[in-house]
Order: sequence, then structure tokens, then C-alpha cells
Amino acid sequence: MSVTVRVPAKVNVQLAVGAARPDGFHDLANVFLAVGLHDEVTATPADALRVTCSGPDAGQVPLDRTNLAARAAIALAGRHGLEPAVHLHIAKDIPVAGGMAGGSADGAGALLACDELWGTNASREELLDICAELGSDVPFSLVGGAALGTGRGERLTGLEVGGSFHWVFAMAERGLSTPAVFREFDRLTETLDVPEPVASQELLDALAKGDPDALAAAVSNDLQPAALSLFPELAGTLAAGRAAGALAALVSGSGPTTAFLAREEESARQVAEALRTSGTCRTVRTASGPVPGATVVAPGR
Ligand code: C5P
Repeated sequence: MSVTVRVPAKVNVQLAVGAARPDGFHDLANVFLAVGLHDEVTATPADALRVTCSGPDAGQVPLDRTNLAARAAIALAGRHGLEPAVHLHIAKDIPVAGGMAGGSADGAGALLACDELWGTNASREELLDICAELGSDVPFSLVGGAALGTGRGERLTGLEVGGSFHWVFAMAERGLSTPAVFREFDRLTETLDVPEPVASQELLDALAKGDPDALAAAVSNDLQPAALSLFPELAGTLAAGRAAGALAALVSGSGPTTAFLAREEESARQVAEALRTSGTCRTVRTASGPVPGATVVAPGR
């Protein structure tokens, strides 16, 4: 018997960041959109916890207990008095250390897969609780669609979206560490008065209408200056996408993946082609969203 769960990547259409809190985290107004790039996590009974990974970036994925998939299995087993005796295989398509919640997706996927495999029947609330313990972006990976995350990003309110948005993602030559990007944000804002993070009403209206031009005018990412400061070459990628006709170009989350909004599928293909030949990034993918969150695709004996 094994269980496979499919989990989407995310792009942050707004990432408003407040000042560092006493616990080191930052209050956020984080508008997440789940997009159609997916990891698949398969849970199979085993003698002991083991994580394996396949896919082009598999070599960069830690297979020890720092992996969020492993931590999810340990957390669920611990709450239910079980041993986390499971083999978790991650078929990885979401860029690693890319700012698209790839690690979070694996955490949410492993949690749902183990819950199904072990018959622990955790409530949605318990699953969301465990997700929030694992990391700020993990609850959204479970829920998918579009949502506003407040607190450190883990407190979610679902958002209405009136259509599908077409995106191009440019993956960079190397990753960026999320804590390092937040530290750089702190350094860059040291002498400034950082306002409380609030969701933009224009942005929420644009999502509700499904209007890509209005969304393009409203997207923002307060971590972008910090990501650019640590990875200045990203400015060239953003410029290449803009020159190719993207409606908006921004760093996805803490980066270094860059995200480009297009009016429809055909223009997304054109932007993708131009980025591929620009020599400013490693790989380019297109994906649209919103898409559903973590979903069991193959329970099987
Ligand atoms: O919650 P998660 O483990 O994904 O966060 C990774 C790191 O990103 C944290 O250790 C912290 O440095 C930073 N972070 C933050 N404020 C948030 C979310 C993450 O400073 N709201």
C-alpha cells in the first residue's frame, strides 16, 4: 500500500513585510496564489523513516530529518503515538530554494500522505496546526487556491479569484536562503520606520475580478530589494521579462525565482521563449493559477 499526494508551488502576488518581531519572525500580509507546478510525495510503509528524492534538482534536497517531509511524518506520528516508519519519496518539480514553497509543499504533501496511509484521520484543523508548526508557508501548501496569510504568514483567509492568471517563472543559477533574505531586509530597513503590513485592496479586487492588468498594477514584494541586494543579477532577468512584454515582473517570495505575469497563455509562451534565449536564467517554466492545494492522487495497494 502506498499513498501519493500532489502539491502545488506558490507565487506571492503581494508580500508586505513588517518590522522584525521579538521572536525574529516578521508579521506579514502575504497574498499567496497556488500555481500549476507540482511536487508529488509518495508514502510507503518501511522499517524506519527514509526520504528519497528524484527530479533535476534532487541533488540539492536534504534527505535527513531537516527535510520538511520527514518532519511532517515525525510530527503526525508523535501526536498519534506511532513510529514514523515510512518511506517518503519526493518527485520534485518545484525549484529548490527558489521562493516557491517547494520545501513547504513537501511538508504538506507528506503530512496528508501519512495521514491517509496510517488512517490517523486528522481533522483539517489538526493538519493546519501541524503545518503551521513546520513552517510559515506550509499551511498554504495544504490549502492551495488563493489566500491572505497574516501573522508570520500561517494564518490564512481564503480569497475569491475570478479567473486564471498566466505566469512565467525563471529559475536562477543558485538558490537563496529565506532567513538570509529576511536578515538583509532587516539590514536595509534598519534606519527606516517599517509600517504594519496590510493587504492591498486594489490587489484583492484584481484577484476577485480575474483581471491581469489590474493585478499587474498592484503586485508588490517587500523582500525584492533584499533579494536583489544578495543576488544583483536578478535585475537582468526582471528586465528581460519586462522587455519581452510581461505585464509585471517580480521576485517570487524570498527569491531567487522571478515571476512574470502575462495577459493570456500565448503571451506567456512568448515571454518564456524570450527569457529562455536571454541567458539571464537557468530554466523557464509557465504555469497558471489558482490551482487546488495538496490532493491525494493515488491511494493504492
Ligand atoms: O517559517 P519558516 O521556517 O518557513 O521561515 C524560515 C525563516 O524565514 C525563519 O527562520 C525566519 O528567518 C524567516 N521568516 C521571517 N518571518 C516570517 C516568515 C519567515 O522572518 N513571517
